Amino acid sequence: MLDQTLLPSQTVFVTCTDYLEVANAIKTMIIRGAPAIGVAAAMGVAIGVQKSNDPDADFSTICDTLAATRPTAVNLFWGIERMRRVYNGLIGQPIETKRQRLIEEAIRVREEDIAICKEIGRHGAPLVPDNKTVLTHCNAGALATAGYGTALGVIRAAWDSGKKIDVFADETRPFLQGARLTAWELMQDGIPTTLITDNMAGHFLKSGRIGCVVVGADRIAANGDVANKIGTYSVAVLAKENGVPFYVAAPISTLDLTLTDGSQIPIEERAAIEVTSVFGVPVAPEGVNVCNPAFDVTPNRYVTGIITENGVAVAPFTESLRALAGKN
Ligand code: MRU
Repeated sequence: MLDQTLLPSQTVFVTCTDYLEVANAIKTMIIRGAPAIGVAAAMGVAIGVQKSNDPDADFSTICDTLAATRPTAVNLFWGIERMRRVYNGLIGQPIETKRQRLIEEAIRVREEDIAICKEIGRHGAPLVPDNKTVLTHCNAGALATAGYGTALGVIRAAWDSGKKIDVFADETRPFLQGARLTAWELMQDGIPTTLITDNMAGHFLKSGRIGCVVVGADRIAANGDVANKIGTYSVAVLAKENGVPFYVAAPISTLDLTLTDGSQIPIEERAAIEVTSVFGVPVAPEGVNVCNPAFDVTPNRYVTGIITENGVAVAPFTESLRALAGKN
């Protein structure tokens, strides 16, 4: 995996050879983004079983360790659950068969994710207004998925369809996914990109320049409330205030239909040092109190549409999301 903590200044690939290394990579955000951590967790389970001498005894520990890395993105738990189902279906099979099947399944999870992102792009591209700017927050790109991206997948597909668009990327304090990752990714593709600080978003949303907002998601409740990177909620409110459509692009695996609304989504609290320092340089007095929630929840009333691989859900989301998830 590409070490996302070192981008854009260094391009370093990390090779994990046991599941604890995968768990650590997810926890420390060497790999991050909801679909990407789902794929990594699936691969972590496969590696864990590969390395274990007694997988039946170790399987729960492997799954539980990977599940304990980050709490908000439901794709993590989805990826582990998918591997658990495969494993449970192999009771009584030789250990080599179990190992092989789990490796195959993890590779399938990865390949499917790329195909899903392309479909999200296909459904989302027509929604992007031509000759306008798209605003995005955090990084929901190739780096955050197995490839192509969700929000950036929509932007890529719109760009590839010939639309004359450009992108405003919020820098996304405190971890700077927008500055370090989204700007880097889009520049590699030659898509015109402008970096802004998070507190500039309202100014530009009011200016008439932004045609739509497209962001990713970490977990979407049954009613369409969306957990995504901290700061997304403010962007959504400002988009609505200024009549700018606000789209969420996410795979069906990001839906958590067991939660009736967003208040039930667990929000990860990260270390204070991410706020009090930037690249190791202190930017706040020592000992200051800090809050560092990594995500916020945008109520469904601010969401114009949720773009999935199966189509675009619009309000009322409780019905439209269930239908897209094939639960009706
Ligand atoms: O803390 P991160 O960087 O893992 O948070 C990532 C986001 O919030 C993304 O917008 C979300 O996971 C969607 S990625 C396709």
